Amino acid sequence: MPQYNNPALIQPDREMPRRIGIIGAGTIGPDIGYYLKSAIPGLNLVLIDISRDALDRAVGRIYAYADKGVARRKLTPEQAEGVRQNIKASVNYDDLAGCDWVIEAATENIELKKQIFSRVEDIAGRDCMITSNTSSIPAHSLFSHLRHPGRTTVTHFFAPAFRNPVVEVIDWEQADPGFIRRLRRLFYMTGKVPMITRDVVCFMLDRIFDNWCNEAGFLLAGATPAQVDHAAGSYVHAGPFFVLNMSNGNPIIIETNSLQAELEGDHYLPAAVFQEAIDRGQGTGRDNSGHPQSENEGQKWDETGKWLTIKPGENMDAPQAVVAEIRDRLLGVLFSQTVDILDRDIGAASDLELGCRLAFAFRQGPLELMRALGDKESTRILDKFCAQRPGMPGAQRPLRAYQDFHRFILVDELDGVKIITLRRPEALNALHDEMTDEILALLKQYEDDPYTTGFVITGYGVSAFSAGADIGRFPSMLGDRKQCIEYARVCSRLLVYLDNCSKPVVAALNGMALGGGLELAVRCHGIVAVKDAWLQFPEITLGIAPGIGGMVIPYRRWPDAAPAFHGMLLRAEKMTATAALGLKVIDRLADTHEALLPDAIRRVGELAGKRRGLADAPVSIAPPPAVGDEPRSFNGQRISAAVSAVIRQAVSDAAAAASLDEALELGYAAFAESAATAAAREGISAFMEKRKPEFID
Ligand code: COA
Repeated sequence: MPQYNNPALIQPDREMPRRIGIIGAGTIGPDIGYYLKSAIPGLNLVLIDISRDALDRAVGRIYAYADKGVARRKLTPEQAEGVRQNIKASVNYDDLAGCDWVIEAATENIELKKQIFSRVEDIAGRDCMITSNTSSIPAHSLFSHLRHPGRTTVTHFFAPAFRNPVVEVIDWEQADPGFIRRLRRLFYMTGKVPMITRDVVCFMLDRIFDNWCNEAGFLLAGATPAQVDHAAGSYVHAGPFFVLNMSNGNPIIIETNSLQAELEGDHYLPAAVFQEAIDRGQGTGRDNSGHPQSENEGQKWDETGKWLTIKPGENMDAPQAVVAEIRDRLLGVLFSQTVDILDRDIGAASDLELGCRLAFAFRQGPLELMRALGDKESTRILDKFCAQRPGMPGAQRPLRAYQDFHRFILVDELDGVKIITLRRPEALNALHDEMTDEILALLKQYEDDPYTTGFVITGYGVSAFSAGADIGRFPSMLGDRKQCIEYARVCSRLLVYLDNCSKPVVAALNGMALGGGLELAVRCHGIVAVKDAWLQFPEITLGIAPGIGGMVIPYRRWPDAAPAFHGMLLRAEKMTATAALGLKVIDRLADTHEALLPDAIRRVGELAGKRRGLADAPVSIAPPPAVGDEPRSFNGQRISAAVSAVIRQAVSDAAAAASLDEALELGYAAFAESAATAAAREGISAFMEKRKPEFID
């Protein structure tokens, strides 16, 4: 298992690849190509396939993605042009010469893949990394025959590969540890979430997903696809049959479950109904066996073999007993696979949970579902499943024992410093209660530990430290002042703890620090940042005021920088890391991401033993500027005059408050006042609905 939990701690041993080859121009090949082209500027991409038509379509696909990227403002026109350049589409393997990395994304056929890798090994240089995108075939079956297997492994992407951040990186017995580390770092630096997984059939995540789909297939003996998807809808965005339709997944389930059955036992055999659906789609009309079809047949599929099911979010009437039976069975297979993965150390619990959310759009991972149901109910479901499906793995320990892990933070230790990484990439590391509690518990655990000098708090990835407090929590409390004040107070528990923590805590800003994320950073005892990080209080653009110290702490720590903070609070102005350094808001700028955590650790050392106090008396600051009738944010967006006035008043009152506690309470109350405005309702709704707010005071 990895030396460091946060891949940012892996120091580079090579430059980024300059020339990458992808074999297979189907769907995932060009999708991987687009991800790489948009993440690595100047990259030469070589696409190889036996079909010219497939290559032309693949290049067209990459071009179309670049156009879409510009339309959605994810790429600048210059970046899009960079994506379109330097793509070579070829039917000749010799064009792979000079590649730093070759990724195979061809048909799932072991013999074909082995031949491809032998050929690649003859053409590519000794240092070229060689990986396969298989979703099920173990790495040792693909690479053991090669002369230099140390630079080979499986890198398993999830669809759509340019947007889905998950990549499983298989740590197999002959792979060089340095090579696995390099891949992990490379993926991390290019915006992916790499998950190290053992070399077993279907790795980690497809053991969950494929078996879940397969179980859904067996359930069709007594239910319809729509009923199955309906029953799964309580914890996934889309049920198994909807996803199988979208991804043409029936043959994949047959392939992967057959392989699992071959290697691990017949209980993994695919449900016959998947082959029947394929036959139906090919117009043969009857199932393979020639047996009469079940009475539900009419409700299973249409004439093209597509499952007849409901859309995500769509409801239906279904007999309760049927839904309960389906629910138990689908949860049963999830729980069975989960305990097996953890008992066999196939992957980490936190990766499993995150992977299910990111790769399969589960609203909750299996362990979260288990926790919510409680030990007794989860044990009932798992035991029932194991009895119904002999051979399927059961728990080796009490279910409670599987729950002991950090879900939303990663923890590392370096030179006596605990590094806490906020990891919630699906929400740009936005802080919520459970993440806050995990950080707090860790600080409490190690504050008195003589071997711990201090702490660093950083964010996962290369773009966000934290995008703030979780906005998803807001709608339920808007307008309820008492609840809002209580929310702000409770949310502040970590920050108040930091005020009094006897060991230094340094924020390492790996990217943007927004709203509640910035309120966390300024409460740390020191801040270091990468050069391209920035600080912002966007709350005013949501129609609210920052609730947990944003209108208080910056003024008490850096009163001379008050005019800059006024601009941030009243106009959502961004403060670049360089400007923040000039104002002494941050202590140090790291030139690169590699330098950030070592710099932060050094800063912990410098701060050790030094008491830092926040002003516990009134502070004198430049008064906030007057708020006009039609205030606008720094980029011209209309904002609410009422909320601006609340912020302005709170800043002045908090600066004049006799104590820090009093000032913080004023801040909580001002947040509650802002949250009672019509602007708050509009701003938060607009964010949730992904539209621009229209503030009318
Ligand atoms: N709380 C909850 N979810 C958040 C979030 C927050 N503070 N900030 C971002 N997210 C989520 C988004 O909703 C989105 O989720 P989705 O993929 O399910 O739709 C995901 O993170 C990625 O964000 P997205 O907006 O698609 O990325 P972007 O690169 O286009 O924009 C930001 C990045 C930071 C500009 C934008 O996410 C934003 O404005 N976030 C809110 C920041 C804020 O106001 N923070 C203060 C809150 S106190």
